[in-house]
Formats: sequence, structure tokens, C-alpha cells
Amino acid sequence: MHPQEKKRLAAEAALEFVEEGMLLGIGTGSTVNEFIAALKERNIRLEGAVSSSRATSKLLAGAGIPELELNCAGDLPLYVDGADEATRHGTLIKGGGAALTREKIVAAASKRFVCIIDDSKLVEVLGAYPLPIEVIPMARSYVARQLVALGGQPVWRDGVVTDNGNVILDVHHLRLTDPVAFETAADQIAGVVTVGLFARRGADFLIVAGDGGVRRLPP
Ligand code: 5RP
Repeated sequence: MHPQEKKRLAAEAALEFVEEGMLLGIGTGSTVNEFIAALKERNIRLEGAVSSSRATSKLLAGAGIPELELNCAGDLPLYVDGADEATRHGTLIKGGGAALTREKIVAAASKRFVCIIDDSKLVEVLGAYPLPIEVIPMARSYVARQLVALGGQPVWRDGVVTDNGNVILDVHHLRLTDPVAFETAADQIAGVVTVGLFARRGADFLIVAGDGGVRRLPP
């Protein structure tokens, strides 16, 4: 099955968590784009959605879903987002689309986080996918040196500026056997805005689409 078809299947399966009139948090990326398309096609009426990026805000407007500011919304019952890598326990690497900071905020403000992925992203140990870290521009070189000291090889995602006006370092050659410890250590480097490791607040449910259909973890 084509990866995009798997993304579509995972996105459709996430609809079982959605109720009419709900206020949703919505992430960013090609899998989430399928989720927004499915909401539109099924004509599911929501109170509105809190968006994690400008790209998602555009799609929400196109789908006729009202967008709310997180500051006006309070805690959200449900957040739906994709990931770049995931363990079966819901620990994630995110930020391939450079939206990790707002994604982490919306995930933190949500009671339930449902992560939708295709099965190529399910791993035993995180780190084969380079870990995105959003950094204040003037701190880029300093943060990179600190990340080398933590055992990684940071590469500046040249030309990319986040929705918050910051830069991204993608950290290669990590084997994240203790993701909570790494998230905590990297978070403490001055100049780091957000670490794209979602270990302290991971997903509550993973929806994984593969050739054999869709699985939910935990069931
Ligand atoms: C964006 C993200 C995305 O969720 C992640 O990159 C997955 O994207 P896609 O669904 O396109 O594979 O974290 O910052």
C-alpha cells in the first residue's frame, strides 16, 4: 500500500475519537492534512479547532472549520497529530514540519493525544530520524556545541524559519534509550525553545496504519 494511503487510513480511524460539537487541537503535516480532509468530507461539525501552525490554519479555513486561539479555548478534550517516529508506548519524535513548538503546547493543553502514523514510523528505539530542536537564532552555534556534548550531531536546517521566527537543528546519530532524560537535558540548554521529543507528554493512543489495516495502541 502507498504510504499516503496508509496516512489516509490512520486519519480516518482517528475520527472515532471525534464527537460532533467538539473543540479539537489539530497538528501539522501530511497525515493531519488527511484528517482535516476527512473531517470536511464527512461534514463533521466542530465547535472549532486550535491550530498548531500557519499551514494547518490555512487548511482549517479551507475546510470551513472555525479556528480558536488557545488562550480563549481552555483545555482541549482531544489533540490529533502525526509524528516522524513513535514507539509503541507513544513516545514520539516530532518536528519534521518545523511546527514542534506549537504542537507541544497544544498537546500539553489537551486531555487526550491521538497520534496517527503509518507503520514505517513505528520503532523500538527512537533516534534514526534526526531529532528536530527549535532554537533562538543567536544561540544556534552554542546550542549545537551542547548537543554534541550530549552525543548528537546537530545539522542546521538551513533556510527554514519557524512560525515563531526561530531556527531548527536536526540532531543525527542519537539512540534515545532514555527519552525522558534526553528531553529534560536538552530542554535545559540556554537558547533551546523546544525539543521535538515528546517523552514526558507523549501520545495517549497511537493509530498505526499498515498493509494489514489499522491498529490502535493500546487497543
Ligand atoms: C510537524 C510534525 C509532523 O507531525 C511530522 O513531521 C509528521 O509529518 P507527516 O504526517 O507529513 O509524515 O511533527 O512538525
